[in-house]
Amino acid sequence: MIKERIDIENIDGQLFEIKLVDPDNSKHASFTHYLHNHKNGVSQFYKKDALSYVKEILEKEYPTTEITLEVAESALQYLLFDLNKSARFPAPENPNFKFIDLFAGIGGFRLGGQKNNGKCVFSSEWDKFAQQTYKENFGEIPFGDITKIEANAIPNHDVLFAGFPCQPFSYSGRNEGFKDKTRGTLFFDILRILEEKKPKMFLLENVKGLKSHNKGKTLETIIDSLTKLGYHLHWEILKSTDFGLPQKRERWYCIGSLNKIDFEFPKKINEKVTLRSIIDENEDSENLKLTEFELNRINYHFQNVRDDYQRVEHDSSKYEPTTKKGRNGIFSYQKPDGSLRFHVGDHAKTQIQEAFYCTLDTYSPTIIANRVPKLWDIGRKLSVLEAQRLQGFPDKYGFPVSDNQAYKQLGNSVSVPVIDLIIKEMTKYL
Ligand SMILES: C[S@@+](CC[C@H](N)C(=O)[O-])C[C@H]1O[C@@H](n2cnc3c(N)ncnc32)[C@H](O)[C@@H]1O
Repeated sequence: MIKERIDIENIDGQLFEIKLVDPDNSKHASFTHYLHNHKNGVSQFYKKDALSYVKEILEKEYPTTEITLEVAESALQYLLFDLNKSARFPAPENPNFKFIDLFAGIGGFRLGGQKNNGKCVFSSEWDKFAQQTYKENFGEIPFGDITKIEANAIPNHDVLFAGFPCQPFSYSGRNEGFKDKTRGTLFFDILRILEEKKPKMFLLENVKGLKSHNKGKTLETIIDSLTKLGYHLHWEILKSTDFGLPQKRERWYCIGSLNKIDFEFPKKINEKVTLRSIIDENEDSENLKLTEFELNRINYHFQNVRDDYQRVEHDSSKYEPTTKKGRNGIFSYQKPDGSLRFHVGDHAKTQIQEAFYCTLDTYSPTIIANRVPKLWDIGRKLSVLEAQRLQGFPDKYGFPVSDNQAYKQLGNSVSVPVIDLIIKEMTKYL
């Protein structure tokens, strides 16, 4: 009877509310992980919590019916059939390798992993809005805080993916091992998982600045500690503009492999793309338009500029006299590529970029959490759909969260085509 009356969405709806009230409740994550892994022998990791979760939900939904473990188990089995339908990006039917998605965000690595015929067997992301987006697209709720998850609670996998936050390490004692230096950082959590699970390969991603962070010592510690675990490393800084995206995003990518391999990072694609290629022609929402203040400043620049590339001084009385803008003034300047920049201050050395406007024929700066690219020639900022194209996410990728959250999640994420091509190279060695 119960079999006929429940479906995934029903259960998911209930579960979601529970999760939001109690962030430590990992049963929802176990439940979705169980459903995603019933074919590959990994599901036993998640079965106990998944069953207890289903039992809880059924007890709430059908308070007068006795829910035994057998009933819960048959409900769970029934749910297995519907699973792939509920995900926009279902797992491949016959995967060639297993991977885990750490600091998963909205699953940029997962898209690349699945595209290369990989199956995700574990994900972790603690931000509840990112979890919502992840679930919307992959039908799975990631587990929360990775620092609280034992490495032996993670299933075996061939590849570990992680775009981890860059944090300073401590260099307090003499002769201290890498574990002492990295303890308490999220990189340490990657190390302990690698040490316990020994996947054949991993792919890490970070900001370009990792290279020079703490005068190079941070990167040195990272390389040292991964090498000590027995991994052979290859790393490189790659630009998203070299891989078909009109975004100047430069990132550090590092692959590690237990076997010594002649790994080569993907070659750049020599096709020049501009923002025009990602623009949605039908987009005319009011809330994307530049403010009147911005439009006035832009118009002022073009009305007053005499020579090409001349700096135009704006009326600083529009700004509070106590602020840097009020004291030093605002100058605008158009670069040869057409982009328009506003600077605070007069002298090149003290200039602080205050605003940046691209054009349809240029590329955007790196998108980050709270900066959405703006175009002066069409008088608006990018929509969420355009921002997702800027990171190479497919159009059918969905955001069940506010636009501000969506921009932030995209800014934190990876450029999918770059990840996809790197993983493609990695699969040659799996
Ligand atoms: C740079 S983003 C990675 C985004 C991801 N690569 C993607 O494709 O969207 C880092 C992520 O780590 C998450 N995070 C930070 N600390 C965490 C922790 N202790 N446990 C789980 N996730 C964490 C953040 O919420 C953030 O989404």
